[in-house]
Amino acid sequence: MTTSAAPSASDVDARAREIEAQMTDDERFSMLVSVMGTNDVVTVRDDRIPEGVPMSAGYVPGVPRLGIPAQLMSDASLGVTNPGYRPGDTATALPAGIALGASFNPALARQSGGMLGREARSRGFNVQLAGGINLARDPRNGRNFEYLSEDPLVSATLAAESINGIQAEGVISTIKHYSLNCNETNRHWLDAIIDPAAHRESDLLAFEIAVERSHPGAVMTGYNKINGDYAGGNSVLIQDVLKGAWGYPGWVMSDWGGTPGWEAALNGLDQESGLQLDIMMWQTEWFCGPLQQAYAEGKLPKERLSDMVQRILRSMFAVGVDQWGPAPTVDMAEHHSIALETARQGIVLLKNDGVLPLAPDSAAHIAMIGGHAHVGVATGCGSSAVVPPGGFAEVIKIGGPGIMGVGRNLYLEPSSPVEEVRKLLPNAVIEFDPGMSPAESALMASRCDLAIVFAIRVDSEGFDDPDLCLPWGQDAVIDAVANANPNTVVVLETGNPVLMPWSDKVKAIAEAWYPGQAGGRAIAEVLTGVVSPSGRLPITFPASLTQTPRPELPGLGSEWGTPTTIEYNEGAEVGYRWFSKQDEQPLFAFGHGLSYTTFEYSDLTVEGGDTITARFAVTNTGTRSGADVPQLYLTRAAAEDRMRLLGFERVELAPSESREVTVLADPRLLARYDGDAREWHIESGDYNVALGRAADDIVLSTSAAVRERRFGH
Ligand code: BGC
Repeated sequence: MTTSAAPSASDVDARAREIEAQMTDDERFSMLVSVMGTNDVVTVRDDRIPEGVPMSAGYVPGVPRLGIPAQLMSDASLGVTNPGYRPGDTATALPAGIALGASFNPALARQSGGMLGREARSRGFNVQLAGGINLARDPRNGRNFEYLSEDPLVSATLAAESINGIQAEGVISTIKHYSLNCNETNRHWLDAIIDPAAHRESDLLAFEIAVERSHPGAVMTGYNKINGDYAGGNSVLIQDVLKGAWGYPGWVMSDWGGTPGWEAALNGLDQESGLQLDIMMWQTEWFCGPLQQAYAEGKLPKERLSDMVQRILRSMFAVGVDQWGPAPTVDMAEHHSIALETARQGIVLLKNDGVLPLAPDSAAHIAMIGGHAHVGVATGCGSSAVVPPGGFAEVIKIGGPGIMGVGRNLYLEPSSPVEEVRKLLPNAVIEFDPGMSPAESALMASRCDLAIVFAIRVDSEGFDDPDLCLPWGQDAVIDAVANANPNTVVVLETGNPVLMPWSDKVKAIAEAWYPGQAGGRAIAEVLTGVVSPSGRLPITFPASLTQTPRPELPGLGSEWGTPTTIEYNEGAEVGYRWFSKQDEQPLFAFGHGLSYTTFEYSDLTVEGGDTITARFAVTNTGTRSGADVPQLYLTRAAAEDRMRLLGFERVELAPSESREVTVLADPRLLARYDGDAREWHIESGDYNVALGRAADDIVLSTSAAVRERRFGH
């Protein structure tokens, strides 16, 4: 970072007040709206964007006479996005957020955040629309791949480090989409119903912890309604919770086309984003004419207008976007290594009946089948798409209804798994079959020693998956291959859990998610044992949709624009919490992931009191180095069975090496939120704590007495 040491909160507040006081009302209003650059959806350049400004998701003019720079915003879930906006621009294409989630590695999140900050800054972007943290409540959500986990603590821990990495480079990060934008179906007309206290214990807890730990400059609201009010104008969530209970000092921006009316400003929204989409959605630019009219009529108080501007300014000053020196040099080779390391640590080995790793000197005859693995690896679509250096290996148009259909493509990122396996197994004989027909694939598989099938599914912003099945007949291909060859390995490249009707027939299964621009390499390294897999599932893989809270997804298949209500009746019991409560056995549990070495846990001790402090030892009992992610769960709180992940740590260990781990539980994870008293409440009693390899694989457990107390807001 080239900016000077971070200024104090009171300094930036004072400076924001002082600068704002010198503004004209026109200057104030100009800071409250962002205009989109041209892309596949917005094809005509808006003349409010000056010549020479690079196209991106949002532009807000500055006030040069007062030293206020323009805001240039770009998306950043999987890298600094570019498709459509800046033809020819490329950026490091990271693995999906869910792959980062699977690493359970906050230090890696910090590194990739730094990478995002540097690449943004080198292009002049000073606001990154990063920090996607919606909990994976539904395994069909088309954007789960952009997010981190179904668990609030994992999501918050990793998001906070990513945001800290971005902001340490002098670039503002958002955290988004506040809140409960957990399904894409009819997202603009979706009313997410939830018990407010349960909301505090789940999605809002993730936001609360991440905001505390990383102070993101802005919070982006969701498209949906929450309990009847649009997120962008939801005064309960913005005023009472975010700005009230949590004292959030930064600014709240809408999602693009997600400002429900000028009155949203009275309910806490500070900036309207992506004006052109508001024209499409609402036929008006709310924070332009209508908000100015309201101000002229005295309906928008001057103090509120000043507050909106001051919030933006104080985030700019706190992060230092007004203090930029020359653009940093960007080491793209180092950034490629971050993408590779994230892919390596994100791959989850779900099953291994001894067939992996493949020996480096193997002279086996191997059939590699399907998934365009001879070309590259799959990724997801929507505003998060990133063109990697050298361009996509291939783009195959998929299409679909609605405005998001235009951008729905099978983007193949370079680094072909077939070529990478060839490099690592020079003595093997490797053939590729496209996986087009079960019969044809089975013919090749039957004459080989081993078959590796690649199965892909393209998830996309704007669409939920209709079910958990692999598309394009891939289940039938895997089934036929497994029938033809007992040594079948399946590598999944998906953004969500899938069903695996063939799971008993195959010898090994690895989930590689969308592994980014170095993904083919990382997959090959895991298959051949160059790297011992260490990813753990950040989302439960159900055995069937009937096990989940909503076997039927409301609104699925209805026309775009159909008002839809989704009841998140599971409340705070999201994912593994739900499975535990319902006593359901998933296909693969949250936290599950195999290694090529073995780990033992011992010496679990737990202290109670105001919270839980646990200590335990992890030992690598195998013959090779590897990383483990021991997980500490609450299983019973006083008189109630209640499953909560209290802590986790990714531990890298050489053979025979041992490490002591300490977990200090955030007391909110032991508490219930008392909505009437507006505070957290811990009941006194014995709290059972379990140390496990996964939510369904507990190794050691014990209990400790915890004191009653009420705290927080
Ligand atoms: C997405 C946001 C994104 C914005 C700007 C919207 O469609 O929901 O996550 O930041 O576009 O590209």
